[in-house]
Amino acid sequence: VVDIRKLYAETDTFTYDPGFTSTASCESKITFIDGDKGVLLHRGYPIDQLAEKSNFLEVCYLLLHGELPSAAEFTEFEHNITYHTMVHEQFDRFFMGFRRDAHPMAIMVGAVGALSAFYHDSTNINDPEQRIISAHRMIAKMPTIAARAFKYSKGQPFVFPRNELSYSENFLRMCFSVPAEDWKPNPVLTRAMDRIFILHADHEQNASTSTVRLAGSSGANPFACIAAGIACLWGPSHGGANEEALNMLQEIGTVDRIPEYVQGVKDRKYRLMGFGHRVYKNYDPRAKVMQKTCHEVLAEVGHADDPLLKVAMELEQIALNDPYFVERKLYPNVDFYSGITLRALGFPPDMFTVLFALARTVGWIAQWKEMIEDPSQKIGRPRQLYTGAPQRDYVAVDQRG
Ligand code: ACO
Repeated sequence: VVDIRKLYAETDTFTYDPGFTSTASCESKITFIDGDKGVLLHRGYPIDQLAEKSNFLEVCYLLLHGELPSAAEFTEFEHNITYHTMVHEQFDRFFMGFRRDAHPMAIMVGAVGALSAFYHDSTNINDPEQRIISAHRMIAKMPTIAARAFKYSKGQPFVFPRNELSYSENFLRMCFSVPAEDWKPNPVLTRAMDRIFILHADHEQNASTSTVRLAGSSGANPFACIAAGIACLWGPSHGGANEEALNMLQEIGTVDRIPEYVQGVKDRKYRLMGFGHRVYKNYDPRAKVMQKTCHEVLAEVGHADDPLLKVAMELEQIALNDPYFVERKLYPNVDFYSGITLRALGFPPDMFTVLFALARTVGWIAQWKEMIEDPSQKIGRPRQLYTGAPQRDYVAVDQRG
């Protein structure tokens, strides 16, 4: 008979770290976070500088290749991305299999996973050229697929990509125009969309990125790995928090109801959504940029007096000065202001996490590529601390008590 406890003691040394709060799963050169100081760097560049001065496609290049592109490199990259924006006609039929009221994230999990059935060459992960083509395909097709998920839920016809437009213009047009319409982009809203994509592009080994790495560590097709990441992102503790944060602000409704709601948080009836972070024990630097973007977007669409913005700002001030939140180092995260902003851009709450997935795709694929190219890479295989029954003999059914 195997004595399981003795077996652990004699043969295995490993760390028990539920939630991986202090275990590094890999080495990475892509993103650095100092959670105590509220610092986020991509390839060394601060997120606020990238959000202010760069554009999403340039950040994609930076995350994938490690350096900002020269003008010629950017032109080539942009060409490579726009070359891949279309999806196969058969792929469009795939959408029709979903219920018309399906959550767009459910559609994203299925549709992105289905890309692996269209691009068999991407399974050849040991070919560096195929790895880059897979990355280009993913970055290029996500806006097309996300816009189709949106259009499908509204019962509207799909709008084809237009490659002369910028990445974010093209996406907004595919979401908010109808085919053949002479749609004019709004530069303030397009810039805001682009900045929101930059803010969500990567965040080192969060749950969904770790999922992509773990799935990819077995050598699986990259599109299937990204689908696994999308599934993980969907949850309310991760990417789904932006939807929950807006629901929360709507539930509070007016500033005078905040104290009662905060008391409910302290009584542990529910959590303050869009607050707290596993790594940031200071203000999330993305939340600062998001707050500014929120004001710009609301002013542009004529909702500067949005009552939910008032609730959010007052709630933030109350929480930042309340010992319960101060002691636990709970600050607004990127999701706190993103719901109000995305709603003002014209998106319904169930699209919020889809937009997050679209932007995070570059982080996922850059991390996947880095992992595959790391010579020390091994299949990810966590251990467990077994707490079940000791070894025992099988009992026939007529002899069970
Ligand atoms: N509201 C109220 N209390 C909170 C919150 C919150 N949002 N977050 C954490 N706490 C409290 C916990 O109750 C706990 O208190 P205790 O020590 O008295 O029991 C303490 O702070 C530590 O909480 P943990 O759950 O251990 O922290 P963890 O690092 O595991 O959780 C998480 C991080 C999941 C993000 C959490 O802060 C949370 O649930 N936030 C709300 C959801 C959210 O906004 N998620 C988005 C994250 S950012 C992103 O994915 C882009």
